[in-house]
Amino acid sequence: MKALEGIKILDFTHVQSGPTCTQLLAWFGADVIKVERPGVGDATRKQLVDVPGADSLYFTMLNHNKRSIELNSKNETGKEVLERLIKTCDVLVENFAPGALDRMGFTWERIQELNPRMIMASIKGFGPGKYEDCKVYENVAQCAGGSASTTGFVDGIPVVTGAQIGDSGTGLHLALGITTALLQREKTGRGQKVMAAMQDGVLNLCRVKLRDQQRLDAGPLTEYSQFGEGIPFGEATPRAGNDSGGGQPGRILKCKGWETDPNAYTYFITQAAIWEKICDVIGEPDWKTKEGYATPPERLDKLNEIFERVEKWTMTKTKFEVMDVCNPFDIPVGPILSMKEIAEDQGLRDTGTIVEVDHPERGAYLSVGCPIKLSDSPVEVVRSPLLGEHTDEILTSVLGYDDSDLERIKASGAVGEAK
Ligand code: COA
Repeated sequence: MKALEGIKILDFTHVQSGPTCTQLLAWFGADVIKVERPGVGDATRKQLVDVPGADSLYFTMLNHNKRSIELNSKNETGKEVLERLIKTCDVLVENFAPGALDRMGFTWERIQELNPRMIMASIKGFGPGKYEDCKVYENVAQCAGGSASTTGFVDGIPVVTGAQIGDSGTGLHLALGITTALLQREKTGRGQKVMAAMQDGVLNLCRVKLRDQQRLDAGPLTEYSQFGEGIPFGEATPRAGNDSGGGQPGRILKCKGWETDPNAYTYFITQAAIWEKICDVIGEPDWKTKEGYATPPERLDKLNEIFERVEKWTMTKTKFEVMDVCNPFDIPVGPILSMKEIAEDQGLRDTGTIVEVDHPERGAYLSVGCPIKLSDSPVEVVRSPLLGEHTDEILTSVLGYDDSDLERIKASGAVGEAK
């Protein structure tokens, strides 16, 4: 038994944001039926192709545990099939450009008419307002959600992050909205609209930066490195480089091998509570009591010097040795792991966070498994579907069409041939 067993999802999502949401729901046990344009499918199937003729990793890694039906939702018979899907499913998830579903004839009012228990979940770039009609991609959301203006170094341009906080981040937000709406439906019997805007999702993840924006009214942000360096603050939350967000000074420091390995670095936090242990570890026991070093406020204008000294020590160790030495003292450090190291990490494989999946077109590939572990709802990662792989199966066993219906539907051009 899986947590969401019995829940049917009409998955009208594409690219990254929506598919990450429905993939999570599939991992939790929902039956996710991905509706794709006949002969074309989700555009990511053919984006960043590494194995000619096979679905891309971009697609496979976002669409595990789903079934695929080819269906032209602009064709009259296709609309009839879609109506039956809406009547049958519990949740419709979509991340089309604003207005696309309405143009197909499936407004929220129409969907409610067809199925009052339907939960309709959407991802859009922006919420209601002057940008609501915009098409939005990951980096646009990162910029509009406040992430880019607060990422990078104080003397550099805004920087986007590799973590897909706009797409996958909003997918996560939407999944929470859907499961919450499902719970509420248990009590009310009614569906509802669930909406997650990418700008809102990014801003939610940048919450501490809006905190700092307001703190600026009370004076400079003393925990930012620029304070200790005497660089004046402007009107807005500045870019904080690799400072740690919680008020404890932190930096990324070189470790043994940095000259040739671009990831031979560690994160190192000089947390006030364990300052004395840090002094012992790096070989500066005098700093424990020395004037100008003993307390956090005194150290603020010496952070560059202090971190240079810590780095002199970290450079004598590999990033893993730094961890081995520091962990027993509760000194917070973290190795900068490359994707290669993560891919090879046996511990992550043992927990199912990194999984090897077999695929008929491309052979075995690595993917990130379900990052959320439920003790009573184990996840088995199943390869992504080929385009239209389950068309016949869904039309018959889910929607109850018989052979003659199937013939009629196929003759209308509403679906592609099942593969
Ligand atoms: N059968 C027939 N038509 C279909 C179909 C199907 N099964 N599935 C989709 N379509 C049509 C849509 O109805 C739409 O047609 P219309 O423009 O005539 O109304 C068309 O395909 C394209 O949809 P659209 O969403 O506009 O795709 P796009 O490639 O132009 O834009 C995005 C892509 C991601 C920018 C846009 O979908 C978007 O802004 N989405 C919301 C924000 C988002 O999720 N962004 C992040 C994506 S990772």
